[in-house]
Amino acid sequence: MSEPSAKITREVARLRRELAEHNARYYVDDAPTISDAEYDALFRRLAELEERYPALRTSDSPTQRVGAEPAARFAAVRHTLPMLSLDNAMSEEELREFDARVRKLLRSEAPIEYVAEPKLDGLAVEVVYVDGALSVASTRGDGFTGEDVTPNVRTIRNLPKRLVAPTRGPAPPARLEVRGEVVFPRAAFAQLNAARAAAGEPPFANPRNAAAGSLRQLDAQITRSRPLRLYVYSPGEIVGGPALARHSELLAALTAWGFETSPRTRTCVGADALVAYHAEIGAARAALEYEVDGIVAKVDSLDWQRRLGEVSRSPRWAIAFKFKAQQAETRVNNIVPSVGRTGTLTPVAELEPVQVGGVTISNASLHNMDEVRRKDVRIGDTVLIERAGDVIPYVVRVLVEKRRGREREFAMPSACPVCGGTVVREEGAAAYRCINLECPAQRREVLRHYASKHALNIDGLGDKLVAQLLDAGLVRDVADLYQLTVEQLAALERMGEKSATNLVNAIAATRENTPLDRLINGLGIPQVGERTASLLAERFGDLRALMDADQETLSGVRDIGPETAREIHAFFREPSNRQLITRLLAVVTPVAPAPRRRGGPLAGKTLVITGTLSAPRDAIVERIEAAGGKVTGSLSRKTDFLVAGEDPGSKIEKAKTLGVPVIDERELDRRLET
Ligand code: IVH
Repeated sequence: MSEPSAKITREVARLRRELAEHNARYYVDDAPTISDAEYDALFRRLAELEERYPALRTSDSPTQRVGAEPAARFAAVRHTLPMLSLDNAMSEEELREFDARVRKLLRSEAPIEYVAEPKLDGLAVEVVYVDGALSVASTRGDGFTGEDVTPNVRTIRNLPKRLVAPTRGPAPPARLEVRGEVVFPRAAFAQLNAARAAAGEPPFANPRNAAAGSLRQLDAQITRSRPLRLYVYSPGEIVGGPALARHSELLAALTAWGFETSPRTRTCVGADALVAYHAEIGAARAALEYEVDGIVAKVDSLDWQRRLGEVSRSPRWAIAFKFKAQQAETRVNNIVPSVGRTGTLTPVAELEPVQVGGVTISNASLHNMDEVRRKDVRIGDTVLIERAGDVIPYVVRVLVEKRRGREREFAMPSACPVCGGTVVREEGAAAYRCINLECPAQRREVLRHYASKHALNIDGLGDKLVAQLLDAGLVRDVADLYQLTVEQLAALERMGEKSATNLVNAIAATRENTPLDRLINGLGIPQVGERTASLLAERFGDLRALMDADQETLSGVRDIGPETAREIHAFFREPSNRQLITRLLAVVTPVAPAPRRRGGPLAGKTLVITGTLSAPRDAIVERIEAAGGKVTGSLSRKTDFLVAGEDPGSKIEKAKTLGVPVIDERELDRRLET
């Protein structure tokens, strides 16, 4: 075997560095910058070089590990058994090679029975049940140690919090570790991104990142608000379970215990059947509820799985057969800044229209200037664009080899392209902003946002009409909407008497009974979307009180960070905004939200927790709060219950002296359920 040249050694080092960076972007930041196909190509090149020059192999090479180390913001969870990855087949030929290898290793003449599952494109998690109760959930992390995301996973609706003991079939094991994929429905994805854009937050590149970003939240309430689902597909350690001979039997048992397994899972005998299954799922792909990026074939017999074993990071008994990415090459005709509601200038690539997966693509957001520079996208460049499902297409990379030397770099203008106002880049921020509050582009976006479904939901007030109203000088801000008359509207182009009347009525309908949170959302305060608006409505109950809140009070609101508090405070300090709100409140009477969960089973009760419970404290606190109760740290006569877990300590004594009833976890569960 030849010695590696200096050039090869450098290439290996570069590949490792790049792969490590991409791993971190994918697994830690949930924001990859290259496509899976490109990642796979880099990975394969590295594996190939390490194969050819074993001297270059190191134990910390990305080929020897899975994913990335867990982020420090979550507690670490060690997996009892490592969470492996899957080897990929890129073509039918490679799939057939896999099948041939399996048959050879097993010395089997007969075709192999496989279980074929769709390869769901989400985030792998492990969930552990002890005596039937959900105890810990973690991400894959680097395969050995993942992140503790228990409170977040608990909010997933199709995940059993307790295992079902079926009347027929095997009872659940004493300890069950099960792995699966957390996914984000494609239908809800576009909606989430629209809401994020409206709140001034960056969109997720695809449903997989949305799943990961939703799960890896420090605040489980955010996770709860997202429609995540979990589909299980492989076991971890199982203690005291039924004797199972096949993967398909395991899937059946998991279903009986309350889980959902991947939809469309099927037994396939031999490679031909796998190829047909791959084609079938590929054809159904666009119609599937979830993003699927290929199929997974697993040898059904568990005994054979054991005999086949695994190599460093993936089992020999399974393979992922991926679909081809939906990519296309096209030219960047121009890069133009687009002005949003808060004045943010977003660079957008105007593309030579091109078909990707049956859809014509003519624009791709470049998000911000950091991104433009990192990818080095220039006007006139040929770029590779990728579309995943319903997702906004994105520029994967520039095909630098196609440059002719006439490409031009894009610079953010110093004057707003719409109003000519000053554009500034705030310190530490990635975004450029037009600071002219009178900017028509901003006015247009604010009005559009106010009328949108998640804000005031004014039927008939769409984008075109907003532009017409502004152009005709009939409105300047949202308060002006309430002064519009049927005559004024009917005089506009493409507007009849009837639609004018309907619109005036739709606007009038928002004068009464508009929930305060919707009104707050509708104001278009930077960083404030639906969720923050509802927290603010709940905390202040009144727009004037919110308007006069100081920054400290604002950052004291649960789940509102200092950054958002600063934005809210600055918004309400602006005299023109205060005037607008005064005018608005003269015509709109919002209704404050009812106090939270008045009817919950623990409404008005104060609880204290002591000792170790079966789930992390946060998760228990969350359940108590969801039932209307409150958890405090110290006991007093006003405490309604002390919840005592294992090793409770001195609080029990104190509770007795104070006459506070002590309940155990089972009793708490009972009260939470009634
Ligand atoms: S089995 C040892 N089954 O693909 C078995 N994985 O590249 C390991 N995935 O980490 C996993 N659908 O995130 C398996 N039906 C499926 C899957 C699946 C999606 C993901 C999972 C895994 C990755 C491996």
